[in-house]
Amino acid sequence: MKEQLEKILQNATKELEGISDLKAMEDLRIRFLGKKGELTAILKQMGGLSPEERPVMGQLANSVRSRIEQTIAEKTERLRKEAAAAKLAAEKIDVTLPGKEMPIGRAHPLNAVLAEVEEVFLGMGFDIVDGPEVETDHYCFEALNMPKSHPARDTQDTFYISDNVVLRTQTSSVQIRTMEQRKPPIRIISPGRVYRSDAVDATHSPLFHQIEGLVIDKGITLADLYGTLDMLMKKLYGKDTQIRLRPHHFPYTEPSAEVDLMCFNCGGKGCSMCKNEGYVELLGAGMVHPKVLERCGIDPEVYSGFAFGIGLERITMGRYGINDMRLLYENDMRFLGQF
Ligand code: DAH
Repeated sequence: MKEQLEKILQNATKELEGISDLKAMEDLRIRFLGKKGELTAILKQMGGLSPEERPVMGQLANSVRSRIEQTIAEKTERLRKEAAAAKLAAEKIDVTLPGKEMPIGRAHPLNAVLAEVEEVFLGMGFDIVDGPEVETDHYCFEALNMPKSHPARDTQDTFYISDNVVLRTQTSSVQIRTMEQRKPPIRIISPGRVYRSDAVDATHSPLFHQIEGLVIDKGITLADLYGTLDMLMKKLYGKDTQIRLRPHHFPYTEPSAEVDLMCFNCGGKGCSMCKNEGYVELLGAGMVHPKVLERCGIDPEVYSGFAFGIGLERITMGRYGINDMRLLYENDMRFLGQF
């Protein structure tokens, strides 16, 4: 029995040397020291020993057990420390490394310019109102003095939902909706999407944006229209900016004008950008036609007003020197990141 005990100690010590993980260590402990382990098996044979031998073997067995236990404890401790050190080394953070830059988004150029325009008009006491993009023929054309046969309709070929329902070609429809709902004095702008059956090129898109403006009150004149737009353009393009009104025709205004902006490239001298005109065409405007007022229940003998429609793409392109409208819709970060 003595040899058996010594053999167990020897084997256990030898095996422990080769062990490198805690799981194997626990398996080994159970195999040698567990209830069904090798040492226990030998102790069960103690009954067959003489009374003299029994305490001697008992002592030897205890010392074998405690030596194995001690070796296991020491080795376990060492493995734990090694594992912790390895983990620390693997998870080491170098706090002196430069951080990763988080890209910060910004407003799309169309939204940035729209926000500036809204700011200017809010400052002048205007409300911002919304209107539907799917519109009836009545609000989009009829009520604006453009009956079905009117030639002005040809320039605004639209998408028809049905005979009398269209995707609006102009935000001017909101003028009518507003005048039906509010009593003068009225001061609103209405930005939004409009649609036309146009092929895509550098200056056309089937979907673009307009900002409609409408002012109705007693004693409103063309001078108010001029002053308002002059103020807006000076805010957008700088205080030296000048605009000019050029006679034009719109069915819902009388008189009507196209508003040109002094060329921001040459300052009015004439260059390739303005085709030597010194001015670039910017928007349509005019004094609201008495028939339109009347149809909305506003007495043209008492009230007058002006209206305008600005192309958001056009003023944005002018503002940033963008020469192709398509760039505004492509969502290419290399382009958008420049503004
Ligand atoms: N609706 C016109 C267009 O889409 C622009 C316009 C012209 C709006 C004159 C107006 C206006 O309010 O008075 O071309």
